[in-house]
Amino acid sequence: MIPQETVQRIIESADIVEVVGEFVSLKKRGASMIACCPFHNEKTPSFNVSPSKGIYKCFGCGKGGDSVKFVMELEGLSYPDALRWLAKKYGIEIKEREFTDEDLKNQNEKESLFIALEYAQKYFTETLFESEEGQSVGQSYFKERGFSDLTIQKFNLGYALQSREAFFKKAEKAGFSMEILSKGGLISGLEENNIKDRFRGRVIFPIHNVAGKPIAFGARILKPDPKAPKYINSPETEIYVKSNIVYGISQAKNAIRNLDNCFLVEGYTDVISLHQAGIENVVASSGTSLTPYQVRLIRRFSSNITVLYDGDAAGIKASIRGFDIILEEDMDVKAVVFPDGDDPDSYIRKVGGAAFSEYIKNNQKDFIRFKTELALEDIENDPIKKANLITDLVATIVKIPNPIKRSVFFQEVSQILDIDEQILIIEANKLLKVKTTETKKGDGGVISPQPPVRNLELELAERLYVNNAQEEALIKDLVLYGHVVIEWDEDTKEAFTLADYLIGETSDLNIESPVFRKIYDLYKFHFINQKQVPSSTIFTSNVDEEIQKTTINWLSPKHELSDKWSNFEIFIPKYEEILDEVSYKMVLRIRIEKLKKEVAANILEIDDSSEENTDILLDQINKKQSTIKLLSEELGAII
Ligand code: CTP
Ligand code: MN
Repeated sequence: MIPQETVQRIIESADIVEVVGEFVSLKKRGASMIACCPFHNEKTPSFNVSPSKGIYKCFGCGKGGDSVKFVMELEGLSYPDALRWLAKKYGIEIKEREFTDEDLKNQNEKESLFIALEYAQKYFTETLFESEEGQSVGQSYFKERGFSDLTIQKFNLGYALQSREAFFKKAEKAGFSMEILSKGGLISGLEENNIKDRFRGRVIFPIHNVAGKPIAFGARILKPDPKAPKYINSPETEIYVKSNIVYGISQAKNAIRNLDNCFLVEGYTDVISLHQAGIENVVASSGTSLTPYQVRLIRRFSSNITVLYDGDAAGIKASIRGFDIILEEDMDVKAVVFPDGDDPDSYIRKVGGAAFSEYIKNNQKDFIRFKTELALEDIENDPIKKANLITDLVATIVKIPNPIKRSVFFQEVSQILDIDEQILIIEANKLLKVKTTETKKGDGGVISPQPPVRNLELELAERLYVNNAQEEALIKDLVLYGHVVIEWDEDTKEAFTLADYLIGETSDLNIESPVFRKIYDLYKFHFINQKQVPSSTIFTSNVDEEIQKTTINWLSPKHELSDKWSNFEIFIPKYEEILDEVSYKMVLRIRIEKLKKEVAANILEIDDSSEENTDILLDQINKKQSTIKLLSEELGAII
């Protein structure tokens, strides 16, 4: 854990303009800086950075946050890793001390694994370039495959010697314990007292996490051998969870984001060959079927995936089912097949990068069409097969969370198969029913699409929102204008701020909406304990995403008065100038609203009360109603 003071220091040191400026070029406009949004594709800039507030907000895609959030989203890092990134940039030392013994042990172990893996990666690269065996065996293998030195460096490729012990002996001398090497999957046989290097006589492909640290290795055999596996991969370790990572993500992430598309291939060598030919938005599933985590990892950078299949039919059919998962994660999927016998690696070496891209452009199909056409090849007028195909396709389409996309695909399948769209929809509703009941049984893993009934939850949320508008107005004003002085006492020389007024007037108020209440409580806590108006960064840099998002939206008004207006002699009262009046009305309105609610509740209570209690309730209702009347008169008088 990073100590809280250090977190604070990092957040305070991070300058949003500098941080964002590392990735996009910002131009000044009025009080803000603008740029084309790095999170989505656009030609006219709608990405705003406010230097004074320390936040960014894109009015195109809605992304917003502070410096930490920016690094998290852009680099795909976790919160602590984003803090570390910023600490490095600003030369802030992090002393990660505040651990429990258990934390410390785990943290140390993880840290040691990272160090061991990095050591091993450097060792394998060094072996490739500097040892005789590395040069004659490893390098000539890569040369034969057409990998340039630059490519080898970019992917930190390496070589492991034939020897059983070359690596671990060296690592031991460098101070690594056998336990750590074993936990990192670098050696085997520790328990049997027969220690061996795991990777021997193979070329090495390091697997990096999103931040670019090596976390595992794939080691390829040099010559085909029916008795030995083609690849030996690291086992899962504390820092390598196979289902959470895709090969090449750290080298590909910027290109994926910039091109807003990710190519998905099968193998390490496909990724590398594409890079070498200038196509960098590519990752590999490493020969296994995709997991939701992997899809979400890609989605941090783009929601479009193009699956590049090897050109052998058996392989395609085996893996096609696995890609439904991409649809379930609400990504757009396209697919391309290469000519028979070619995989992306061999094809790009044959035709080059430009023709490769051209081929993809001309041959990619949306996934549903791809699947349909592929299956049609087998059907040959067999009605049973056709029926099965329809069920299968409908099952796939139903997994798409977005109803508009679903309906587009129903139309498409209806055309390709020449079948009434209604039949598909009926079929889908059958499946949906099964699915909803499955979900009810407690199968939390099933993503149930919106059933075709009214969405009560949404309606309720909307209704709540209307009622919460007043709460929002109040708390928004607190956060934005709490510091504004609304009264100045000449005698005592004391300033009376909006925060003084609003907190005083609302301390007994029960805020209903959870997020507004959180913000309000945090505000009050700071205001009362530190006797000053809290700075907006307390909210915009809050770890609670809801607080962060809500306040950033408040702080990023879409329609700020443009500078142009100040050149004209038009009087537009600024919100700050009428705050005292506005806030007074606001407090009145909230009080009236709350009282009305209480009255309504009291009336309901009467129904099941004893006589004695009824009298008390009636009395309360009367009192409340006269207060409502008074307050309403006051409100009416100032409107
Ligand atoms: N794979 C594996 N173990 C194997 C075979 C394959 O882990 N015995 C994984 C590797 O991640 C590999 C991917 O599946 O990259 C795809 O397999 P394949 O196409 O056979 O390997 P390539 O990396 O493409 O190697 P090459 O081009 O040399 O055939
Ligand atoms: Mn291959």
